[in-house]
Amino acid sequence: MKILTIIGSPKGKGNTYDTALKVETTLKKINDKIEFEYLYLKDVNLLPCKGCFQCFLKGEQFCPLKDDRELIERKMVEADGVIFATPVYAYNLTWLMKSFIDRFAYVCHRPRFHNKKAMVIVTTGAVGLDFVLFNLAQAVGTWGYSVVSKLGVMYPPEKILEEQERKLRKKTEKNIKKAATKFYFALKENKVKKPNFLNVLAFRLQKDAFSRKDQNLADYKYWKGKGWIEKETKFYYSVKINIIIRVITSIIAKIVIAKNPKPEINTNN
Ligand SMILES: Cc1cc2nc3c(=O)[nH]c(=O)nc-3n(C[C@H](O)[C@H](O)[C@H](O)COP(=O)(O)O)c2cc1C
Repeated sequence: MKILTIIGSPKGKGNTYDTALKVETTLKKINDKIEFEYLYLKDVNLLPCKGCFQCFLKGEQFCPLKDDRELIERKMVEADGVIFATPVYAYNLTWLMKSFIDRFAYVCHRPRFHNKKAMVIVTTGAVGLDFVLFNLAQAVGTWGYSVVSKLGVMYPPEKILEEQERKLRKKTEKNIKKAATKFYFALKENKVKKPNFLNVLAFRLQKDAFSRKDQNLADYKYWKGKGWIEKETKFYYSVKINIIIRVITSIIAKIVIAKNPKPEINTNN
C-alpha cells in the first residue's frame, strides 16, 4: 500500500509535517508494510497558473507551463491514498496549496480519482481549522477523491500553562490516532462509496453542462469517452442512487439549465 503526503507549508518540515509524520507512525504500527512518500510543494517545480484556460478547453497537455505537473499527477495516480496537508495562513490555505489546487483545476471538470481515498490535515496557531479543512476536502473531493479522514491540529504559537499544554497534547495524540486509523481502514476496505445528494447533483450539473459543449472541447471528449453523457448514466461509476436524490437533483438541474444561457455549439470535428 502506497501513501503520498503532499505538504503545503512553505516551511517544509514544520508543524504540518510533524503531524503527518505522527500519522505515518500510527499507520506503520497497524501495518509496517505501508510505503510513504512526501512531496513538499515548496520544493517541487510547479509554476502558478496563468489563467489561459488551455487545460479546460483543449486539455491539460496544452498547458503552456513546462514543469512537474504531470509527474505530480502520476504520483497521485500511483498512490493508493493521498494525504493533503496544509497549515492555516491568514484564515486560509497557504498560497502553495492553493496554487497546487489551481494547477489541477481541470481535474474538477474531468475527475479521475474516484477509486482513491484521501485524508486532509490542517494545522493552525489558533483559528481556521474547520474552514480550511472544509475547503481542502472540498477541492480534492471535486477531483473524485473520497475524503475519508480529516484531522485538525492546534499548535499555539506562545507558551501556554503546563496543565493546558498537557491537555492539548493528550487531545492531539488521541485525534491523530483516531484520524489515522480511520484512514487506514477506509484504505483497506474495497467498498464502493455511496454518493450523497451533493455528489449526485454535481455529477448531474456537470453532465448537463459538458454534454452541451462543443464536441471538440476536452471536457466533452472526456465525458463522452467515459460514457458519462449517456442518458442512462447517473453517476461517475456504477452505484445505486436513492430515488429521492435522483428526482430532486433532476429538478434542480432542469431549473439551472433553464436559467443559464445556452452555449453556441460547434459539432464539426
Ligand atoms: C504567515 C502566517 C500566517 C498564519 N495565519 C494564521 C491564521 O490565520 N490563524 C492561525 O490560527 N494561525 C496562523 N498561523 C500559524 C500557523 O497556522 C501554524 O503555526 C501552523 O501550525 C504552521 O505550520 P507549519 O509549521 O507546517 O508551517 C500563521 C502562520 C504564518 C507564518
